[in-house]
Amino acid sequence: MQKIDLRSDTVTHPTPEMRAAMAQAEVGDDGYGEDPSIRCLEERAADLLGKESALFIPTGTFGNQLALFTHCDRGDEVILEDNCHIVANEMGAAGVVSGVQLRTIASENGLMSPAEICSRIRRVGGLHSPRTGLICLENVHSLGEVLPLEYMEEVYALAGRYGIPVHLDGARLFNAALALKTEPQEIACFADTVMFCLSKGLCAPVGSLLAGSASFIESARRKRQIMGGGMRQAGVLAAPGLIALERMRDRLNEDHENARLLESLLSEISQVYLKRHNIPANIVFFRVPEDVVPAAILVRELHKRGIIINPPQNSWYRLVTHYGISADNIRCVASGIAELIAKYNQQIMEE
Ligand SMILES: Cc1ncc(COP(=O)(O)O)c(C=O)c1O
Repeated sequence: MQKIDLRSDTVTHPTPEMRAAMAQAEVGDDGYGEDPSIRCLEERAADLLGKESALFIPTGTFGNQLALFTHCDRGDEVILEDNCHIVANEMGAAGVVSGVQLRTIASENGLMSPAEICSRIRRVGGLHSPRTGLICLENVHSLGEVLPLEYMEEVYALAGRYGIPVHLDGARLFNAALALKTEPQEIACFADTVMFCLSKGLCAPVGSLLAGSASFIESARRKRQIMGGGMRQAGVLAAPGLIALERMRDRLNEDHENARLLESLLSEISQVYLKRHNIPANIVFFRVPEDVVPAAILVRELHKRGIIINPPQNSWYRLVTHYGISADNIRCVASGIAELIAKYNQQIMEE
């Protein structure tokens, strides 16, 4: 049975072209700056984002934490959205690695209100208040939302007025660029530093990049070493990353179309509730009330049909479309959910 795995776009496998590139990659010791494949990837990434420099790092989490570590001093405060990856999914690393304090702002959709950001910025010096060291944005946000350019511009200008840098978690930066019908540098220009991942929708097996000014990246390179992230002949990982950048960006629209197809099919099923309509990227949230089909049963029964999804969080299921998932697969998922709901409605009526 073919598996339809919608847990995340992180489940994508490297393409045959990537595997061939790994086998043939030119490598050297990156500790001496001698790996040509890594240098090439870093230059291309910086160029694509309109930044002076970029650094190859093992994961997105590593990149975000390295950004915090490089921008901030211990005891600084970082302003960020309550549901973002750094807060919700990085194991509290900000306290462990950088010793910073996270000052979160709750939101419905990932967009912190600029007025609330402003109210969190600490302006008074003295011996008691921490210093606001950084503001973080996330685009595409984990809640599936795409932050509009005007919003990013407003936050960046606000931060600039107080001399506070902005870091962008752009794990899915190219999905955001596609959704906004713009180029990645048009988003990246509203942040001092940007992390993006090669290993999600772009299908590379490993790797992320952190981009920023030449002096920031020079300092991040030293901090990367402190975090144990200095790699040697990692050109074997950079080579598929280059293919991810050059060849896989252009097909992300298929994933967005499939997410919209899923949205439209789910919206036709009664007792399925979508968190939002007009899905902008590749992440779809929906809810099936527990008294319609209990989550444990829905997940297990779909699994029996080869459809793999995560259990809901706060009662929302989160499905992510990606390379290898076709429109037919999406139809199969929607019909599987519809059949299970019909079956359980029938059972309840018979009881
Ligand atoms: C928005 C966001 N940021 C950061 C990350 C971390 O990436 P990694 O899994 O490579 O650490 C993820 C991973 O899914 C993510 O969704």
